[in-house]
Amino acid sequence: MTPTQVLPVDPRSPDSATIDVAARVLRAGGLVAFPTETVYGLGGDATSDAAIRAIFEAKGRPQTNPLIVHLAETSQACELASHWPESATRLAERFWPGPLTIVLPKRPGLAEAVSAGRATVGLRVPDHDVALAMLRAVGLPIAAPSANRSTRVSPTCGHHVRDELAGRIDLILDAGPTPVGIESTVVDLTGERPRLLRPGAVTSDQLAAALGEEIAIVEVAASGQHALSSPGQMAVHYAPRTPLILVDVRELEEELAVSDLMRIGLIVPQPGRGEGDLRAPIRVEWQSPEEAARGLYATLRDWDDEDLDRIVVVMPPPTEAWRAVRDRLWRASRRWARPEG
Ligand code: TXA
Ligand code: MG
Repeated sequence: MTPTQVLPVDPRSPDSATIDVAARVLRAGGLVAFPTETVYGLGGDATSDAAIRAIFEAKGRPQTNPLIVHLAETSQACELASHWPESATRLAERFWPGPLTIVLPKRPGLAEAVSAGRATVGLRVPDHDVALAMLRAVGLPIAAPSANRSTRVSPTCGHHVRDELAGRIDLILDAGPTPVGIESTVVDLTGERPRLLRPGAVTSDQLAAALGEEIAIVEVAASGQHALSSPGQMAVHYAPRTPLILVDVRELEEELAVSDLMRIGLIVPQPGRGEGDLRAPIRVEWQSPEEAARGLYATLRDWDDEDLDRIVVVMPPPTEAWRAVRDRLWRASRRWARPEG
């Protein structure tokens, strides 16, 4: 057991003494959970083999799944790539700091395990004052996966991190809820065409507009299992403990009838489509994809705590704006999915 210190920190004007504590822990090879605009990350010195090993251990993460390296500035990211294409400059100028991870060929210098044996590295400058202050203070590249135990949903609040990692890490910087709520968009620039490995708040349309070229989309759902290019794209990922059933709006009535005697949590995107069903008094309505992303993981965790029998979600419309939320919902439902056909 590692005693875990929790330090509250103002999300907009972080106290420099608190940031210095975090920087010191990181420089000594320790692990610090910190807020980003997407989700909380579990940070460690990306140049230290021991720190990276400790991250994998604390999470129970498979060694095959590479970590994202976080930096305070684009110029620091350039130094970690063996080749920095014009397309990376365009994306960095347009979206950094922000919820976008860029995969590029890596330069030697980082701990081997960061890339899980690959010749590439995922780089990101996060848009959160606490993360940026910490990265500036420590002056090192910081590897950070989401600060949850492997296969659980990502933490969007300090107390989510505490619930999962207390006793396993050194420090949690608690700055309250994270504004975006789902993990960054991951785009791979190492091939002939840019490829979207994980959808997020930055949409493929926005990427295409910034690059002036089309983005190839790696469909996790279509491959049905591990997409090899992004090994973290495992189907059983981001799962709550409560069975989550994803239904088309036309199947909702039937699903609620089948689940008649159960305690159900119902999620309805864009109400009006799913109609107000009074048999599910525990319900959340999303007015927009942004609102959905912000609240999704906290809702799943709350409902796990309430011991509901089932979570029923009406699948949002198949538009680009909803792609990332649909992706996370699809994964969250895989464990309990009924055979197709
Ligand atoms: O928003 C986020 O990205 C958060 C915050 C903390 O920055 N981090 C995060 O990390 O979600 P993690 O480890 O939970 O997810 C990283 C994703 C995985 O799907 C992983 O496979 C992919 O990025 N990834 C990282 N490095 C990669 C690489 N070199 N090639 C392909 N995929 C990579
Ligand atoms: Mg993760």
